[in-house]
Amino acid sequence: MATTLSLPNLLAHLERDEPARIAELMDWLRIPSVSTDPAFAGHCRRAAEWAADHLRASGLNAQVLPTGTKDKPGHPIVMATCGDATSPGPHVLFYGHYDVQPADPLELWHSPPFDPVRRAPAKGEDGGERIIARGAVDDKGQVMMFLAALRAAFEATAIPAGGARLTVMLEGEEESGSANLEPFVMARKAELSKCDVCLISDTGMLGRGKPAITYGVRGLAYTEVVLHAANQDLHSGLWGGRCPNPITELARVLAQLHDKNRKVTIPGFYNDVRPLSAKERAAWKALKFSSAAALKKIGLPPAADIGEKGFTAMEREWGRPTAEVNGIVGGYTGPGAKTVIPAKASAKVSFRLVADQSPEKVTKAFFKWCKDRTPPGCRWELIDHHGGPGVTVPIDSPHLASAGRAIKKATGKAPALIKSGGSIPVAGMLKKRLGIDTIFIGFGLDDDRVHSPNEKFELDCYRAGARAHAAFLCELAQS
Ligand code: BES
Ligand code: MN
Ligand code: MN
Repeated sequence: MATTLSLPNLLAHLERDEPARIAELMDWLRIPSVSTDPAFAGHCRRAAEWAADHLRASGLNAQVLPTGTKDKPGHPIVMATCGDATSPGPHVLFYGHYDVQPADPLELWHSPPFDPVRRAPAKGEDGGERIIARGAVDDKGQVMMFLAALRAAFEATAIPAGGARLTVMLEGEEESGSANLEPFVMARKAELSKCDVCLISDTGMLGRGKPAITYGVRGLAYTEVVLHAANQDLHSGLWGGRCPNPITELARVLAQLHDKNRKVTIPGFYNDVRPLSAKERAAWKALKFSSAAALKKIGLPPAADIGEKGFTAMEREWGRPTAEVNGIVGGYTGPGAKTVIPAKASAKVSFRLVADQSPEKVTKAFFKWCKDRTPPGCRWELIDHHGGPGVTVPIDSPHLASAGRAIKKATGKAPALIKSGGSIPVAGMLKKRLGIDTIFIGFGLDDDRVHSPNEKFELDCYRAGARAHAAFLCELAQS
């Protein structure tokens, strides 16, 4: 017999079925859905099918839809729906991603990345029991919190999502730039515009046992710059000192990206940056974040607290733009020695952006800045990989209030209001294209090793998230 949604009942279902849900999550984690490498395309499809099956078993109408074009197919997107115009509450669009980052460097994993392990913390490790696998927290484990809440609601009431109206969209290219997402969203503009708000669980908490709502993420502009010199590799004895070495010249250019105060030197870079308000700076200060403690976890002393002068670590991560070199290659990198001046050298350079900066403008300004510094006789090849604007969501919305109540009921703690330095391209896209705001409720920790070897998700975090999503479904049913 179907009953109406009650939180204690949902929480009891979640607790009872947790072993089953965790076993399913482990199955999902075994699928190596690395989106950036075409060799894994079949696995990406399998991971999408897996999620669609899970949603179907919770009573939703789910489909695995193709993206891209015939010539250049993308990874599929899972779309699922339940409820209709008569359903109570706002129409929520849940977004998550089933793709993961590449697992390399493989030799640094203590257990295989796609063979998830559940274990207690080792000696010297903070926190509790955890699941270790690529994608454990980013983002399969966090999507699973929502899938578990949906399953509990269906089992408790025999009605999908307990009667709420939902659209679920699970992307397979978040980790590789979301190239096919915008055309997909635009092709479904009419349908997606009906959603009132987007909910994403792909961020973190303020700390262990400190749940949070993230009200802003940074944008990203990702580029690659290749500096070409001679039309061939050269003997460094014969040619060294006679012509440009593209590695040295590229390094000289990149070293000019920051001035002595660690400000980015590209003209106009800060023009559109929205200044931090005194109110925001005071609110962040009150969160009592210890940058020294955070640095310690990654093996650095307090002296390593460096960045743009005049701002705290938290302000630099949440509210200021940055320029970073993410990779640099050139010349001989194999074993032993080889005396060579290579024909070219290249670097991946990305920029994290804050509210009101445009990724296109920043990329254009950076490319001009490179050209203005072209080393004598050399030539640039400048590649614009991908980008997306940052987002800041209003903190006084009824949706955010209801997510806050849900987290309080689920964890006993009112969530902190935080921002994140990471990027989630869909949020800016939904705002720009459909006018939809996003609520980020995430349960990761800053020592989860997101994108790194030995990525983990702690079970206490998973539980808090599953309970919070269940409470959010109750909020929807009651509004
Ligand atoms: N989930 C992360 C972003 C994130 C992590 C936000 C932790 C807040 C806290 C997401 O999957 C991610 O890694 N995004 C990429 C963006 C991208 C375009 C490849 C990023 O931020 O580098
Ligand atoms: Mn993610
Ligand atoms: Mn990620």
